[in-house]
Amino acid sequence: VATLEDAGFQRVDSRRSADVILFNTCSVRQHAEDKVYSALGRLKHVKEHRPGTVIGVIGCMAQKDRQRIFRQAPHVDLVVGPGQLSRLVELIERAKAGDGPQLAISLDRHAGTRAEVAGSFTRLDFNVPARRPSGAQAMVRAMFGCDNFCTYCIVPSVRGPEQCRPADEIVTETRRLADAGCIEVTLLGQTVNSYVDRSGGATVRLSDLLYRIHDIDGLQRIRFVTNYPKHMTDDLLAAVRDLDRVCPYLHVPAQSGSDAVLRRMKRGYTAAFYRDMLRRIRETIPNAAVTSDFIVGFCGETDADFEQTLDLVRHSRFKNSFIFKYSTRPGTKAAELYADDVSEAVKRRRNNELLAAQNAVSLEDNLRQVGRQVEVLVEGPSKSARKQGQEGDRQELVGRTTCDRIVVF
Ligand code: 5AD
Ligand code: SF4
Repeated sequence: VATLEDAGFQRVDSRRSADVILFNTCSVRQHAEDKVYSALGRLKHVKEHRPGTVIGVIGCMAQKDRQRIFRQAPHVDLVVGPGQLSRLVELIERAKAGDGPQLAISLDRHAGTRAEVAGSFTRLDFNVPARRPSGAQAMVRAMFGCDNFCTYCIVPSVRGPEQCRPADEIVTETRRLADAGCIEVTLLGQTVNSYVDRSGGATVRLSDLLYRIHDIDGLQRIRFVTNYPKHMTDDLLAAVRDLDRVCPYLHVPAQSGSDAVLRRMKRGYTAAFYRDMLRRIRETIPNAAVTSDFIVGFCGETDADFEQTLDLVRHSRFKNSFIFKYSTRPGTKAAELYADDVSEAVKRRRNNELLAAQNAVSLEDNLRQVGRQVEVLVEGPSKSARKQGQEGDRQELVGRTTCDRIVVF
């Protein structure tokens, strides 16, 4: 958005008044892609009424589906992958000038040496000024891509090889944000706790980086997502414990509680390892809120496997969990090696059951908060305030505690 605004573009409220319409897309599950294809279908008439309108698909779906998007939706003008966004403005201008469909994607993981492939994923952050829509909060990318290749996951193919930004750059960007009034920064990476930067000679790990941004004037909250269970090291836990501006909030996806499923997912740890990691977190940071992701109905998941996931959720005191039905992704190892053999009905049932188990845990956790005073960073009017059009002093607000608990008041 910042890059587009710098080039003179403005956000508008309705697609009717837009002369450029961009879909920023996700490929993690099929459902999200289906929604984009049907939204694109609905835009066909816009193009008929106003042929000058530029329609673009950017992000992971662009990298993954590329030509297929033009085939399925011939009225699309732009397909730009996540590693090519630095060229977006130039490509929009070309499409507007009538140069025909514009395609910009990065190299496939096997289409060159590691350095060549990594180099084809240019990191937009380098060019983006530290300016964000909401002044108080900002995301700062620490890492791009992923090298883990969990068998179900499309991310390593669409986001390219793991690349860590130099620590100096992250510190500079964070300082600029703080100078502009930002008080909460979230460091981003698919496996952000694997962060390591050796570009300056010394080795900078995530814990070191947290120390480096901790004392930036004006900053009050530092978060980081997402964590990989295997790399939840003691130095990181100690940094979260010792640095008071680092929020005691850890998102560490478990994905499953069954060793057989974890092995097929190629997650690289067992359920016992995950539980022991949780024990270390609780021991070092007793007030930490931990959250997780789970996939239900992965290839070959039996009732007994699922029971083990239920057990993990019942006994882990997660603040909340994000639960997903397995969605087979062409191009992944799982799609190649295993049959997607859990029926949709069973996936749905397991999803509901796991959600109910987590909700019971969350309720208990929430009840423990009753009567406590918490510090809330306000994010804006609450949902019902917006629905009812409330204004002024009596407006209901929503925000989050340091532990990422949502508070409406
Ligand atoms: N199907 C369902 N869920 C998936 N996730 C990643 N890939 C898939 C898939 N193919 C989930 C994981 C991950 C979260 C971001 O999305 O739980 O942690
Ligand atoms: Fe996907 Fe996360 Fe595994 Fe990387 S670590 S392959 S992003 S699930």
